[in-house]
Amino acid sequence: MQKRKLGDLEVSAIGLGCMGMSVNYGTPPDKGEMINLVRTAVELGITFFDTAEIYGPFANEELVGEAIAPIREKVVIATKFGFDVDPRTRERRGLNSRPEHIRQAVNDSLKRLKVDTIDLLYQHRVDPEVPVEDVAGTVKELIEEGKARYLGLSEVSGQTIRRAHAVHPVTAVQNEYSLWARESEDDVLPACEELGVGFVPWSPLGQGFLTGKVRIDQTFEKGDIRRIFPRFSLEAMAANQPLVELLGQIAEQHQATSAQIALAWLLAQKPFIVPIPGTRKLGRLQENIGAVAVELTPADLREIDNQVSKIPVQGPRGSGHEQLV
Ligand SMILES: NC(=O)c1ccc[n+]([C@@H]2O[C@H](COP(=O)([O-])OP(=O)(O)OC[C@H]3O[C@@H](n4cnc5c(N)ncnc54)[C@H](OP(=O)(O)O)[C@@H]3O)[C@@H](O)[C@H]2O)c1
Repeated sequence: MQKRKLGDLEVSAIGLGCMGMSVNYGTPPDKGEMINLVRTAVELGITFFDTAEIYGPFANEELVGEAIAPIREKVVIATKFGFDVDPRTRERRGLNSRPEHIRQAVNDSLKRLKVDTIDLLYQHRVDPEVPVEDVAGTVKELIEEGKARYLGLSEVSGQTIRRAHAVHPVTAVQNEYSLWARESEDDVLPACEELGVGFVPWSPLGQGFLTGKVRIDQTFEKGDIRRIFPRFSLEAMAANQPLVELLGQIAEQHQATSAQIALAWLLAQKPFIVPIPGTRKLGRLQENIGAVAVELTPADLREIDNQVSKIPVQGPRGSGHEQLV
């Protein structure tokens, strides 16, 4: 597997998003099977794993911690803080990035992940009550204490990246980015490029839609967050089919799959981009890894841009990203 650099941190060119193994995509699969999947991903060359305190809450960090315990030295673990979770009911009570809360959250994450240090520690969402300078300053102290190695930010603007970066170098920004969510192209990707910050697109497969495997008439089971996403209403999915068809055509030309084209397109945008597709299935994990070998030429990329610009995406990503973290 090729490697890429997020700031100074080297990771596999594609990572594995672990969230769906515990939450948001219906009934979670068997934990033991998911632990095996994480270990198989390492055998297949993936070194970069994404989790968060809020996934479960807590169950996903526990799963990842158990999975990587025997192979800690081979992996880079990214996790996130920033929510206030009732420790008794595990209910999400809003945002909290106050310094003392970050410290508590990190101590708890370290225990669940069974590690001495968190490789990449993201603030999950900007807390309007806490200046990002204070957040970066707290993470800087945690890095000095050895509890974390690198600072990351999630769902931020170029301006927020610059403010944090002035306090402590930001290693990676994790925003939603894919062929149907391109807002980060305006000011976030240019800021990352200028400052030497890596970029990690979340939901790089458009929560599965861009793979062409989501049927228009599909009903999502209880616990699948797509039930409430405007982009996954019957009407929006029908309106957004041209995007699926386009990806299917390009995939055919490259003897690849639509999922591979969606990921190869992201990889081709910038050398500091490392997508983290989420899957609970070995076959799909192998397929997604295969995207690294798919080469899109400048002519392909121009054609994709040209075609995609003619397809207005229906349904805001907004309500999606407030719910999906
Ligand atoms: N920072 C944030 O706020 C934030 C927000 C959301 C997510 N994330 C991170 O980003 C990661 C990825 O996002 P995501 O899981 O929401 O979206 P995604 O990677 O765009 O898509 C995941 C969906 O696609 C399906 N899928 C995966 N590979 C496939 C393939 N080759 N063919 C067909 N279907 C495929 C998965 O189903 P199966 O699992 O059944 O294969 C799942 O339903 C998460 O795991 C999480 O770590 C971060």
